[in-house]
Amino acid sequence: MAAGSREQWNSKAGFILAAVGSAVGLGNMWRFSYLTAEGGGAAFVVLYIAFTLVVGLPVLLAELTIGRGSGKSPIQALAHFAHAAGGSPAWKLLGVVFVSAGFLILAYYGVIAGWTLRYAGEALMGFAPDTAGHFGEIAAGAPAFGFHVVFMAVTIGIVLGGVSSGIERVSMLAMPALFALVIGIAVYAATLDGSGAGYTYYLNARLENALSIPIFVDAAGQAFFSLSLGMGAMLTYASYLGRDNDLPVESAIIATADFGVAFLAGLMVFPLIFAFGLQSDVGGSTVGALFVALPKAFVSMGAAGRIVGFLFFVALLVGALTSAISLLEVVVSAAMDGLGWPRARAAMVAGSLITLLGAGAAWSTDVLGVMDAVANNLFLVGGGLGLSIFVGWVMDDPVGEARAGGSQGALRLWIGLLRYAVPAVLVFVLWNSIPSTWKSIMALFAAS
Ligand code: PHE
Repeated sequence: MAAGSREQWNSKAGFILAAVGSAVGLGNMWRFSYLTAEGGGAAFVVLYIAFTLVVGLPVLLAELTIGRGSGKSPIQALAHFAHAAGGSPAWKLLGVVFVSAGFLILAYYGVIAGWTLRYAGEALMGFAPDTAGHFGEIAAGAPAFGFHVVFMAVTIGIVLGGVSSGIERVSMLAMPALFALVIGIAVYAATLDGSGAGYTYYLNARLENALSIPIFVDAAGQAFFSLSLGMGAMLTYASYLGRDNDLPVESAIIATADFGVAFLAGLMVFPLIFAFGLQSDVGGSTVGALFVALPKAFVSMGAAGRIVGFLFFVALLVGALTSAISLLEVVVSAAMDGLGWPRARAAMVAGSLITLLGAGAAWSTDVLGVMDAVANNLFLVGGGLGLSIFVGWVMDDPVGEARAGGSQGALRLWIGLLRYAVPAVLVFVLWNSIPSTWKSIMALFAAS
């Protein structure tokens, strides 16, 4: 596509809702719930908020600044600013890491979204009472792959529609619906007898669980994953912006909405589970809360449980879909800019390859877990580290670029964080997560 004819968002609200749609997804409900359960309730939540403010927000603004400033997909965008600053052309490689992360994440994300799709249907029919056994049967193998394929086909279809008539249009409808569902279910959960124990569990700080390096690392990884950072998704979305957006303000809106939905997810999940005394089903597992304990709660609720369960999994599915389209868009925009492919070919080829890669995650939940660990602990955190160094130390006048929409934000603080605090925290996180991630990869090979 020739310069100047790049696609654009139709409206500011459209961009914001699409970016919030990217941020809000399985991370807010699935990951947030199990990490909060395992990380000490409110103690984890506070840690996660701290990471969002100190690390997440600065990196989000960095991505939006580079995306809008270059009007290009990640690889070209980094090359553009590296060149302008007389920096090394090798910065392009960071963009390559971003695009690879998109591949990897969407492959397993689609499998979890496939479970969600299946569960929305099953909720309506009524779940079988042995929810753990059932999950074990459907989580891996041909059925898991089948639902993943269906989900990916819908994702590809939307991305094929383009930025404003595909992604933006879907986000404008989906996000308000998702907010309404999440608020409605949280309010409903509050009316259940016994929900109080859920709030206590969620909103009390169990410091003894939170004060450990693994939980610290999880909270940082979650801040990245949940805000879609460290792999160019926000960068790519911002590349379709005009010059008149107030990026610092918009970063704050996106981060607040993302946190709001995660917090509300806790207000749905824990009261529902505790009202039926199912806390032991949450277990230590990453899927216990959402795919085992909650369906059991819906069974106990009888007829109402069918409706509430259906709406819950629909909300989760909508969130997953608007995140998946942003993951695919990173790869698609890179193929369009880098290979000169038309959107249709890029979406079909990239989407199909990612769908195939998902076969690994669909084959075994252990593979899925390792893909998730590698993507978060290495790719996103590493990508965020690279980006903060690039914007903090290499790029020319990032403040001027971020201010271009007329913003008066406290951008000195922003640069300070990008230069010192963000790299320091991320190096610490990487240092502490590489050994365990490596061990989980090795364990997988040893088992197979
Ligand atoms: N933020 C999404 C979620 O919370 C996941 C995601 C990560 C999307 C990275 C895009 C890029 O589910």
